[in-house]
Amino acid sequence: MLAGKKIIVGITGSIAAYKAALMVRLFVKNGAEVRVVMTEAAKQFVGSLTFSNLSQQPVFSGLWDGNWTEHVHLGAWGDLMVVAPASANTLSKFALGICDNALTAVYLSAKCPVLMAPAMDADMYQHPSTFRNLNQLKKDGVQVLGVGTGFLASGLVGEGRMAEPEDILEAVINHFGPRPLHGKKVLVSAGPTREAIDPVRFISNGSTGTMGYALARQAANLGATVTLVSGPVALSPDGPWELINVNSAAEMFVAMTSRSADQDLIIMTAAVGDYQPVEFSPTKIKKADKNLVLELGRTQDILRHLGDTKPAGQVLVGFALETNDEEAHALDKMKRKNLDFIVLNALCDSGAGFGGSTNKVTVFGRDGQKQSFELKGKVEVAADILNAVCKTIQQ
Ligand code: CTP
Repeated sequence: MLAGKKIIVGITGSIAAYKAALMVRLFVKNGAEVRVVMTEAAKQFVGSLTFSNLSQQPVFSGLWDGNWTEHVHLGAWGDLMVVAPASANTLSKFALGICDNALTAVYLSAKCPVLMAPAMDADMYQHPSTFRNLNQLKKDGVQVLGVGTGFLASGLVGEGRMAEPEDILEAVINHFGPRPLHGKKVLVSAGPTREAIDPVRFISNGSTGTMGYALARQAANLGATVTLVSGPVALSPDGPWELINVNSAAEMFVAMTSRSADQDLIIMTAAVGDYQPVEFSPTKIKKADKNLVLELGRTQDILRHLGDTKPAGQVLVGFALETNDEEAHALDKMKRKNLDFIVLNALCDSGAGFGGSTNKVTVFGRDGQKQSFELKGKVEVAADILNAVCKTIQQ
Protein backbone atom coordinates (compact mmCIF):
# COMPACT_ATOMS: atom_id res chain seq x y z
CA MET A 1 0.00 0.00 0.00
CA LEU A 2 3.01 2.27 0.26
CA ALA A 3 4.70 1.17 -2.97
CA GLY A 4 6.93 3.88 -4.38
CA LYS A 5 6.55 6.13 -1.33
CA LYS A 6 9.67 7.65 0.20
CA ILE A 7 9.50 7.97 3.97
CA ILE A 8 12.04 9.72 6.20
CA VAL A 9 11.83 8.19 9.68
CA GLY A 10 13.13 10.26 12.60
CA ILE A 11 13.89 8.46 15.86
CA THR A 12 14.57 10.23 19.14
CA GLY A 13 15.63 9.23 22.66
CA SER A 14 12.75 7.32 24.15
CA ILE A 15 12.28 3.72 25.20
CA ALA A 16 9.59 3.58 22.49
CA ALA A 17 12.49 3.61 19.97
CA TYR A 18 12.36 -0.19 20.06
CA LYS A 19 8.83 0.00 18.63
CA ALA A 20 10.14 2.17 15.81
CA ALA A 21 11.98 -0.91 14.56
CA LEU A 22 8.64 -2.68 14.07
CA MET A 23 7.24 0.44 12.45
CA VAL A 24 10.09 0.67 9.93
CA ARG A 25 9.61 -3.03 9.20
CA LEU A 26 5.90 -2.40 8.48
CA PHE A 27 6.68 0.54 6.17
CA VAL A 28 9.21 -1.55 4.22
CA LYS A 29 6.88 -4.56 4.11
CA ASN A 30 4.22 -2.29 2.57
CA GLY A 31 6.56 -1.23 -0.19
CA ALA A 32 7.96 2.08 1.10
CA GLU A 33 11.55 3.20 0.72
CA VAL A 34 12.74 4.28 4.16
CA ARG A 35 15.68 6.44 5.26
CA VAL A 36 16.26 6.64 9.00
CA VAL A 37 17.61 9.63 10.95
CA MET A 38 18.52 9.06 14.60
CA THR A 39 19.47 11.43 17.39
CA GLU A 40 22.40 10.45 19.62
CA ALA A 41 19.91 9.85 22.45
CA ALA A 42 17.95 7.42 20.26
CA LYS A 43 21.09 5.32 19.84
CA GLN A 44 21.19 4.85 23.63
CA PHE A 45 18.01 2.82 23.25
CA VAL A 46 18.43 0.93 19.94
CA GLY A 47 21.54 0.51 17.80
CA SER A 48 21.66 2.13 14.38
CA LEU A 49 22.59 -1.26 12.90
CA THR A 50 19.01 -2.43 13.54
CA PHE A 51 17.64 0.41 11.44
CA SER A 52 20.23 0.26 8.66
CA ASN A 53 19.40 -3.45 8.30
CA LEU A 54 15.64 -2.92 8.32
CA SER A 55 15.76 -0.02 5.87
CA GLN A 56 18.66 -1.40 3.78
CA GLN A 57 20.08 2.14 3.85
CA PRO A 58 22.74 3.83 6.00
CA VAL A 59 21.35 5.64 9.04
CA PHE A 60 21.97 9.38 9.12
CA SER A 61 22.78 10.77 12.55
CA GLY A 62 25.88 12.94 12.55
CA LEU A 63 25.33 16.36 11.03
CA TRP A 64 29.08 16.51 10.22
CA ASP A 65 29.45 12.92 8.99
CA GLY A 66 30.26 12.64 5.28
CA ASN A 67 28.47 15.14 3.07
CA TRP A 68 27.43 17.98 5.39
CA THR A 69 24.51 18.95 3.13
CA GLU A 70 22.96 15.48 3.52
CA HIS A 71 20.09 16.96 5.59
CA VAL A 72 19.06 19.16 2.65
CA HIS A 73 19.08 16.23 0.19
CA LEU A 74 17.17 14.02 2.59
CA GLY A 75 14.63 16.78 3.29
CA ALA A 76 13.97 17.10 -0.44
CA TRP A 77 13.89 13.31 -1.00
CA GLY A 78 10.98 12.32 1.28
CA ASP A 79 7.28 12.19 0.39
CA LEU A 80 6.56 12.07 4.12
CA MET A 81 8.57 12.48 7.31
CA VAL A 82 7.51 10.36 10.31
CA VAL A 83 9.06 11.19 13.67
CA ALA A 84 8.33 8.32 16.05
CA PRO A 85 9.01 8.35 18.90
CA ALA A 86 9.06 12.15 19.16
CA SER A 87 10.48 13.01 22.60
CA ALA A 88 9.54 16.15 24.56
CA ASN A 89 13.04 17.50 23.88
CA THR A 90 12.91 17.05 20.10
CA LEU A 91 9.39 18.34 19.65
CA SER A 92 10.29 21.47 21.64
CA LYS A 93 13.20 22.03 19.23
CA PHE A 94 10.92 21.47 16.22
CA ALA A 95 8.41 23.97 17.64
CA LEU A 96 11.10 26.61 18.03
CA GLY A 97 13.06 25.88 14.86
CA ILE A 98 16.22 24.90 16.74
CA CYS A 99 18.70 23.11 14.51
CA ASP A 100 21.42 21.40 16.53
CA ASN A 101 21.54 17.83 15.21
CA ALA A 102 20.91 15.77 12.07
CA LEU A 103 17.21 15.20 12.81
CA THR A 104 16.32 18.84 13.55
CA ALA A 105 18.24 19.86 10.41
CA VAL A 106 16.28 17.36 8.28
CA TYR A 107 13.00 18.57 9.86
CA LEU A 108 13.77 22.18 8.93
CA SER A 109 14.81 21.14 5.42
CA ALA A 110 11.86 18.80 4.82
CA LYS A 111 9.68 19.82 1.89
CA CYS A 112 7.15 17.07 2.63
CA PRO A 113 4.35 16.79 5.23
CA VAL A 114 5.42 15.65 8.70
CA LEU A 115 3.68 13.21 11.01
CA MET A 116 4.74 12.80 14.64
CA ALA A 117 4.02 10.24 17.32
CA PRO A 118 5.00 11.72 20.70
CA ALA A 119 6.27 9.44 23.47
CA MET A 120 7.18 10.48 26.99
CA ASP A 121 6.23 10.03 30.62
CA ALA A 122 2.81 11.28 31.73
CA ASP A 123 4.11 14.27 33.71
CA MET A 124 6.18 15.47 30.76
CA TYR A 125 3.26 14.95 28.39
CA GLN A 126 0.92 16.94 30.62
CA HIS A 127 3.36 19.80 31.15
CA PRO A 128 2.02 23.09 29.75
CA SER A 129 5.16 23.58 27.68
CA THR A 130 4.63 20.23 25.90
CA PHE A 131 1.01 21.18 25.28
CA ARG A 132 2.14 24.55 23.90
CA ASN A 133 4.79 22.95 21.66
CA LEU A 134 2.35 20.37 20.27
CA ASN A 135 -0.17 23.10 19.52
CA GLN A 136 2.52 25.11 17.74
CA LEU A 137 3.49 22.08 15.65
CA LYS A 138 -0.15 21.49 14.69
CA LYS A 139 -0.40 25.14 13.65
CA ASP A 140 2.74 24.60 11.56
CA GLY A 141 0.84 21.84 9.74
CA VAL A 142 2.39 18.82 11.47
CA GLN A 143 0.02 15.88 11.91
CA VAL A 144 0.41 14.89 15.57
CA LEU A 145 -0.84 11.44 16.51
CA GLY A 146 -2.44 10.93 19.91
CA VAL A 147 -0.63 9.09 22.69
CA GLY A 148 -1.81 5.91 24.38
CA THR A 149 -2.50 5.40 28.07
CA GLY A 150 -0.91 2.52 29.97
CA PHE A 151 2.37 1.37 31.52
CA LEU A 152 5.17 3.88 31.09
CA ALA A 153 8.93 3.37 31.28
CA SER A 154 8.96 5.02 34.72
CA GLY A 155 6.78 2.23 36.08
CA LEU A 156 3.88 4.67 36.41
CA VAL A 157 0.63 4.26 34.55
CA GLY A 158 -0.69 7.19 32.52
CA GLU A 159 -0.76 9.06 29.23
CA GLY A 160 2.29 9.29 27.03
CA ARG A 161 2.81 5.92 25.31
CA MET A 162 3.73 6.16 21.65
CA ALA A 163 0.98 5.17 19.20
CA GLU A 164 1.35 1.51 18.23
CA PRO A 165 3.33 0.78 15.02
CA GLU A 166 0.17 -0.58 13.34
CA ASP A 167 -1.69 2.69 14.13
CA ILE A 168 1.17 4.76 12.74
CA LEU A 169 1.12 2.60 9.59
CA GLU A 170 -2.62 3.26 9.27
CA ALA A 171 -2.09 7.02 9.64
CA VAL A 172 0.61 6.88 6.96
CA ILE A 173 -1.62 4.89 4.58
CA ASN A 174 -4.45 7.39 5.23
CA HIS A 175 -2.05 10.20 4.53
CA PHE A 176 -1.34 8.84 1.08
CA GLY A 177 -5.03 8.06 0.48
CA PRO A 178 -7.40 10.43 -1.35
CA ARG A 179 -7.06 13.86 0.25
CA PRO A 180 -9.76 16.10 -1.23
CA LEU A 181 -9.35 18.63 1.61
CA HIS A 182 -5.59 19.02 1.23
CA GLY A 183 -4.67 22.68 1.71
CA LYS A 184 -8.17 23.53 2.97
CA LYS A 185 -9.04 25.07 6.33
CA VAL A 186 -11.90 23.53 8.29
CA LEU A 187 -13.49 24.88 11.46
CA VAL A 188 -15.67 22.54 13.55
CA SER A 189 -17.65 23.25 16.71
CA ALA A 190 -18.53 20.41 19.07
CA GLY A 191 -20.08 19.55 22.41
CA PRO A 192 -22.51 21.42 24.64
CA THR A 193 -22.22 24.91 26.09
CA ARG A 194 -22.62 25.80 29.76
CA GLU A 195 -24.52 28.93 30.77
CA ALA A 196 -23.52 29.86 34.31
CA ILE A 197 -26.18 30.62 36.94
CA ASP A 198 -23.71 31.16 39.79
CA PRO A 199 -20.10 30.07 40.40
CA VAL A 200 -21.10 26.40 40.85
CA ARG A 201 -24.22 25.92 38.74
CA PHE A 202 -24.97 26.05 35.05
CA ILE A 203 -27.54 25.19 32.40
CA SER A 204 -26.31 22.72 29.80
CA ASN A 205 -27.40 19.75 27.69
CA GLY A 206 -26.45 16.14 27.04
CA SER A 207 -24.22 16.60 23.98
CA THR A 208 -21.03 14.50 24.28
CA GLY A 209 -19.16 16.08 21.36
CA THR A 210 -18.57 12.66 19.73
CA MET A 211 -20.04 13.64 16.34
CA GLY A 212 -18.05 16.89 16.15
CA TYR A 213 -14.78 15.24 17.18
CA ALA A 214 -15.33 12.47 14.58
CA LEU A 215 -15.95 15.10 11.89
CA ALA A 216 -12.83 17.04 12.90
CA ARG A 217 -10.71 13.87 12.76
CA GLN A 218 -12.13 12.82 9.39
CA ALA A 219 -11.57 16.29 7.93
CA ALA A 220 -7.91 16.02 9.00
CA ASN A 221 -7.69 12.52 7.49
CA LEU A 222 -8.87 14.06 4.22
CA GLY A 223 -5.99 16.53 4.40
CA ALA A 224 -7.55 19.63 6.00
CA THR A 225 -5.97 21.89 8.60
CA VAL A 226 -8.56 21.68 11.35
CA THR A 227 -9.53 24.00 14.18
CA LEU A 228 -11.87 22.43 16.71
CA VAL A 229 -13.85 24.71 19.04
CA SER A 230 -15.14 22.53 21.83
CA GLY A 231 -17.51 22.97 24.72
CA PRO A 232 -16.82 20.93 27.88
CA VAL A 233 -16.65 17.23 26.95
CA ALA A 234 -15.07 14.08 28.36
CA LEU A 235 -13.25 13.20 25.11
CA SER A 236 -9.47 13.15 24.69
CA PRO A 237 -8.21 16.60 23.64
CA ASP A 238 -5.51 14.95 21.52
CA GLY A 239 -6.08 14.89 17.83
CA PRO A 240 -5.01 16.29 14.49
CA TRP A 241 -6.40 19.74 15.28
CA GLU A 242 -5.84 23.02 17.01
CA LEU A 243 -8.19 22.80 19.98
CA ILE A 244 -9.96 25.86 21.38
CA ASN A 245 -11.82 25.12 24.61
CA VAL A 246 -14.85 27.23 25.47
CA ASN A 247 -17.63 27.08 28.04
CA SER A 248 -20.50 29.41 27.24
CA ALA A 249 -22.39 30.19 24.04
CA ALA A 250 -20.90 33.70 24.19
CA GLU A 251 -17.35 32.28 24.30
CA MET A 252 -18.15 29.92 21.45
CA PHE A 253 -19.54 32.85 19.44
CA VAL A 254 -16.22 34.72 19.79
CA ALA A 255 -14.09 31.61 19.11
CA MET A 256 -16.03 30.79 15.93
CA THR A 257 -16.65 34.22 14.48
CA SER A 258 -13.07 35.44 15.05
CA ARG A 259 -11.77 32.48 13.01
CA SER A 260 -14.47 32.14 10.38
CA ALA A 261 -13.34 34.55 7.67
CA ASP A 262 -10.61 32.45 6.01
CA GLN A 263 -12.17 28.99 6.46
CA ASP A 264 -13.10 26.87 3.45
CA LEU A 265 -15.58 24.78 5.42
CA ILE A 266 -17.34 25.39 8.75
CA ILE A 267 -19.33 22.64 10.45
CA MET A 268 -21.44 23.65 13.43
CA THR A 269 -22.24 20.45 15.37
CA ALA A 270 -22.22 22.07 18.82
CA ALA A 271 -25.41 21.93 20.85
CA VAL A 272 -25.31 25.63 21.68
CA GLY A 273 -27.53 26.75 24.54
CA ASP A 274 -30.34 28.93 23.19
CA TYR A 275 -30.86 30.66 26.55
CA GLN A 276 -28.65 32.00 29.31
CA PRO A 277 -29.53 33.39 32.75
CA VAL A 278 -30.18 37.12 32.44
CA GLU A 279 -28.29 37.66 35.67
CA PHE A 280 -25.23 35.78 36.88
CA SER A 281 -24.96 35.61 40.65
CA PRO A 282 -21.29 36.15 41.59
CA THR A 283 -21.90 34.29 44.85
CA LYS A 284 -23.49 30.88 45.27
CA ILE A 285 -27.28 31.19 45.42
CA LYS A 286 -28.50 29.94 48.81
CA LYS A 287 -31.58 27.77 48.84
CA ALA A 288 -34.82 29.19 50.23
CA ASP A 289 -38.27 27.75 50.92
CA LYS A 290 -39.96 29.55 48.04
CA ASN A 291 -39.53 28.58 44.41
CA LEU A 292 -36.56 29.94 42.54
CA VAL A 293 -37.45 31.75 39.34
CA LEU A 294 -34.68 32.21 36.81
CA GLU A 295 -35.11 34.65 33.97
CA LEU A 296 -33.44 33.42 30.81
CA GLY A 297 -32.48 35.53 27.84
CA ARG A 298 -31.54 34.45 24.31
CA THR A 299 -27.96 33.69 23.36
CA GLN A 300 -26.71 34.74 19.96
CA ASP A 301 -27.27 32.28 17.13
CA ILE A 302 -23.70 31.58 16.02
CA LEU A 303 -24.66 29.70 12.88
CA ARG A 304 -27.00 32.42 11.76
CA HIS A 305 -24.27 35.01 12.21
CA LEU A 306 -21.86 32.81 10.23
CA GLY A 307 -24.49 32.49 7.49
CA ASP A 308 -25.09 36.25 7.40
CA THR A 309 -21.36 37.00 7.10
CA LYS A 310 -20.35 34.05 4.91
CA PRO A 311 -17.66 34.96 2.38
CA ALA A 312 -18.01 33.76 -1.22
CA GLY A 313 -16.82 30.20 -1.71
CA GLN A 314 -17.11 29.18 1.94
CA VAL A 315 -19.21 26.10 2.66
CA LEU A 316 -21.33 26.26 5.82
CA VAL A 317 -22.91 23.18 7.41
CA GLY A 318 -25.40 23.15 10.27
CA PHE A 319 -27.06 20.42 12.27
CA ALA A 320 -30.74 20.08 13.11
CA LEU A 321 -32.13 17.88 15.84
CA GLU A 322 -35.87 17.58 15.30
CA THR A 323 -38.69 15.57 16.80
CA ASN A 324 -41.54 16.38 14.39
CA ASP A 325 -41.94 17.58 10.78
CA GLU A 326 -38.22 16.87 10.59
CA GLU A 327 -37.58 17.56 6.91
CA ALA A 328 -39.63 20.76 6.78
CA HIS A 329 -37.95 22.16 9.90
CA ALA A 330 -34.47 21.22 8.68
CA LEU A 331 -35.02 22.82 5.26
CA ASP A 332 -36.42 25.94 6.90
CA LYS A 333 -33.33 26.16 9.16
CA MET A 334 -31.01 25.79 6.16
CA LYS A 335 -32.73 28.69 4.42
CA ARG A 336 -33.03 30.96 7.47
CA LYS A 337 -29.38 30.52 8.42
CA ASN A 338 -28.08 30.72 4.81
CA LEU A 339 -26.45 27.27 4.97
CA ASP A 340 -25.08 25.15 2.15
CA PHE A 341 -25.95 21.90 3.92
CA ILE A 342 -27.97 20.82 6.90
CA VAL A 343 -27.54 17.47 8.62
CA LEU A 344 -30.76 16.20 10.15
CA ASN A 345 -30.76 13.82 13.11
CA ALA A 346 -34.30 12.68 13.66
CA LEU A 347 -34.62 12.04 17.39
CA CYS A 348 -37.43 9.58 16.75
CA ASP A 349 -34.91 7.16 15.19
CA SER A 350 -33.50 4.97 17.93
CA GLY A 351 -29.71 5.15 18.11
CA ALA A 352 -29.61 8.63 16.55
CA GLY A 353 -28.70 12.01 18.03
CA PHE A 354 -27.12 12.87 21.41
CA GLY A 355 -24.88 10.58 23.44
CA GLY A 356 -24.40 7.08 22.02
CA SER A 357 -21.81 6.01 19.52
CA THR A 358 -24.17 5.77 16.54
CA ASN A 359 -26.17 8.22 14.46
CA LYS A 360 -28.59 8.17 11.57
CA VAL A 361 -28.57 11.26 9.43
CA THR A 362 -29.97 12.80 6.30
CA VAL A 363 -27.91 15.45 4.54
CA PHE A 364 -29.80 18.18 2.64
CA GLY A 365 -28.02 20.53 0.27
CA ARG A 366 -29.15 24.02 -0.72
CA ASP A 367 -29.48 22.85 -4.34
CA GLY A 368 -32.11 20.30 -3.39
CA GLN A 369 -29.83 17.29 -2.80
CA LYS A 370 -31.00 14.77 -0.22
CA GLN A 371 -28.91 11.83 0.96
CA SER A 372 -30.23 9.52 3.67
CA PHE A 373 -27.82 7.19 5.44
CA GLU A 374 -28.34 4.09 7.55
CA LEU A 375 -27.73 3.95 11.31
CA LYS A 376 -23.92 3.76 11.62
CA GLY A 377 -21.04 4.45 14.01
CA LYS A 378 -20.31 8.19 14.30
CA VAL A 379 -16.91 7.74 12.62
CA GLU A 380 -18.60 6.34 9.50
CA VAL A 381 -21.31 9.00 9.70
CA ALA A 382 -18.57 11.65 9.71
CA ALA A 383 -17.09 10.11 6.54
CA ASP A 384 -20.53 10.12 4.84
CA ILE A 385 -21.16 13.77 5.75
CA LEU A 386 -17.76 14.90 4.52
CA ASN A 387 -18.11 12.91 1.30
CA ALA A 388 -21.42 14.66 0.65
CA VAL A 389 -19.99 18.09 1.43
CA CYS A 390 -16.43 17.87 0.03
CA LYS A 391 -17.48 17.92 -3.61
CA THR A 392 -18.81 21.47 -3.31
CA ILE A 393 -15.59 22.94 -1.91
CA GLN A 394 -13.79 24.96 -4.54
CA GLN A 395 -10.41 23.49 -5.52
N1 CTP B 1 -26.74 26.97 16.72
C1 CTP B 1 -25.88 28.04 16.85
N2 CTP B 1 -26.07 28.97 17.83
C2 CTP B 1 -27.12 28.86 18.67
C3 CTP B 1 -28.03 27.79 18.53
C4 CTP B 1 -27.80 26.86 17.55
O1 CTP B 1 -24.90 28.12 16.10
N3 CTP B 1 -27.29 29.77 19.62
C5 CTP B 1 -26.50 26.00 15.63
C6 CTP B 1 -26.28 24.57 16.05
O2 CTP B 1 -24.90 24.29 16.22
C7 CTP B 1 -26.84 23.76 14.90
C8 CTP B 1 -27.95 24.64 14.36
O3 CTP B 1 -27.69 25.95 14.85
O4 CTP B 1 -25.89 23.59 13.86
C9 CTP B 1 -29.33 24.20 14.75
O5 CTP B 1 -29.67 24.65 15.98
P1 CTP B 1 -31.18 24.76 16.54
O6 CTP B 1 -31.04 25.27 17.91
O7 CTP B 1 -31.84 23.43 16.38
O8 CTP B 1 -31.84 25.76 15.54
P2 CTP B 1 -32.92 26.81 15.84
O9 CTP B 1 -33.64 27.02 14.58
O10 CTP B 1 -32.23 27.96 16.48
O11 CTP B 1 -33.82 26.11 16.95
P3 CTP B 1 -35.30 25.58 16.97
O12 CTP B 1 -35.21 24.11 16.62
O13 CTP B 1 -35.69 25.82 18.37
O14 CTP B 1 -36.07 26.34 15.96
